[in-house]
Amino acid sequence: MMFGTFSKLILEEYDEKYDDVIVFSSIITIIIIVVGAAVILNLDRKKKSISSGNGIPGRLGIPFLGETISFLAATKSTKGVYHFVTLRRQRYGKWFKTRILGRTHVFVPSIEGAKMVYSNEFGLFKKELIKSIQDLAGRKSVFVVPKDSHNKIRALLSDTFSMNNVSKFVPKIDHMVSQRLNKMETHGKSFPVLDFTMKLGFDAICDTLLSITDPGLLEQMENDFKAVYNGTLSFPLKIPGTLYYKAVKARQRIIARFKSIIADRRSGKTFSDDFLQSMLQKDSYPIEEKLDDEEIMDNIFTLILSGQSTTATAMMWNVKYLSDNQQVQNILRDEQLQVLRQKPDGALLTYEEVKKMPYGLKVIKETLRMANIVLWFPRVASADCTVDGVEIKKGWYVNVDSTYIHYDPKIHKDPLQFNPSRFDEMQKPYTYMPFSSGPRTCLGLNMAKVIMLVFLHRLTTGYEWSVDDEDPSLLGKGFIPKLRSGFPITLKPLIIN
Ligand code: HEM
Repeated sequence: MMFGTFSKLILEEYDEKYDDVIVFSSIITIIIIVVGAAVILNLDRKKKSISSGNGIPGRLGIPFLGETISFLAATKSTKGVYHFVTLRRQRYGKWFKTRILGRTHVFVPSIEGAKMVYSNEFGLFKKELIKSIQDLAGRKSVFVVPKDSHNKIRALLSDTFSMNNVSKFVPKIDHMVSQRLNKMETHGKSFPVLDFTMKLGFDAICDTLLSITDPGLLEQMENDFKAVYNGTLSFPLKIPGTLYYKAVKARQRIIARFKSIIADRRSGKTFSDDFLQSMLQKDSYPIEEKLDDEEIMDNIFTLILSGQSTTATAMMWNVKYLSDNQQVQNILRDEQLQVLRQKPDGALLTYEEVKKMPYGLKVIKETLRMANIVLWFPRVASADCTVDGVEIKKGWYVNVDSTYIHYDPKIHKDPLQFNPSRFDEMQKPYTYMPFSSGPRTCLGLNMAKVIMLVFLHRLTTGYEWSVDDEDPSLLGKGFIPKLRSGFPITLKPLIIN
């Protein structure tokens, strides 16, 4: 309206003296000046409000509800839940606040902010999960326990999940990957990579943790874990028929299964060289040097819950990015064929060989930078404080926004380009955090890397593939960004000249 009146006045005054082009360009110039001034004033206001610590821009909306509806809609959108964040950045700038389910959230887009949060983990900043996830993970899960128990559990689990220990599972995982890829190629049909990797991820983790290999049992357990996933973001009311109720029942069945496996191991009926056995070997140790049964079960449960979908989705993005970047695929295949040629024919991979895949590892790192499997890391401020010059109130969620940092061109040059060679150089602290940082760094990162490297090795040395659906839409479900199509491909044997 305002611009309409403006242009009318200008047109009346200048109509006779200037031709249309000059008049039009004058209007445009005035509009640019007015809009530009507004933008500068707005930016200045934002800068001031941030530096003075007051009024981070953003919309808190009505009490409690705030922007909950838009947020929930984003979790179901094919643009992905991060679109909620992107939209608000466009509106308010780099720092913004919002209100979801009654809590104020600030998205932290800087290295300094990430450093501040991670170096005060369990102190000024605490992980606080919604009740449904707490209940389902179990009261002795690393997700839930307080600092002292967390330290103890992490110390005992970290050794088992060190690269040294995980490396002994390489041949087992290789056997699984090789057989399954071969089967898919023999069938000759298109299949969604995500379906393949979800099953592979689940079976590989269950095998390394518990030595479960029976297909029927794995299927039952995977269905139960699916029910648990579906209930993680539900309203925690135990009413039959609800997602939460089904998830609680599924968890009970899984825990009963764990109890029976532990009893069989203790009675000597079964023995396996796996994660569970390494925990049970400590039965005679003092309580502070071992995990009790509830700790073992809740944490095996948590490891499967955290490990399957993350690793499977990362493998799907691996294939997607390799398909979009043929040159990278060629370099990777050359490296992997070299490893293959140095092995005896038909032999399974060993960890020594996995160590000879530096480019493969960079492909994985670059995939995780671009795919952002865990989009941001929420923590709650336990007191009023300042994060990177921005004032935060007690009780607010500060979400370390690793996705923003991974795509910041000042930190990662040409961030939209899939370029594994950027990892030729060491990354500075808090610039690259696909597995988070600090005391809560992902416990399964070595296992994830090993599964992914073995998968890439067998895929690129055995096969070429065609992509059967290029749809970039995301699956409108949950927080992990997955392609809605699952990224279907068809394998054909690799012919080496
Ligand atoms: C590519 C695959 C994976 C990615 C991107 C990933 C990412 C992450 C991230 C970002 C966190 C920290 C979240 C936070 O700070 O709030 C985390 C924690 C965790 N991850 Fe992973 N993860 C992956 C695979 C795995 C696997 C394979 C396992 C186990 C088998 C696993 C087990 C865990 C556990 C138990 C935690 C909780 C650690 C704690 O709170 O102390 N993850 N993961």
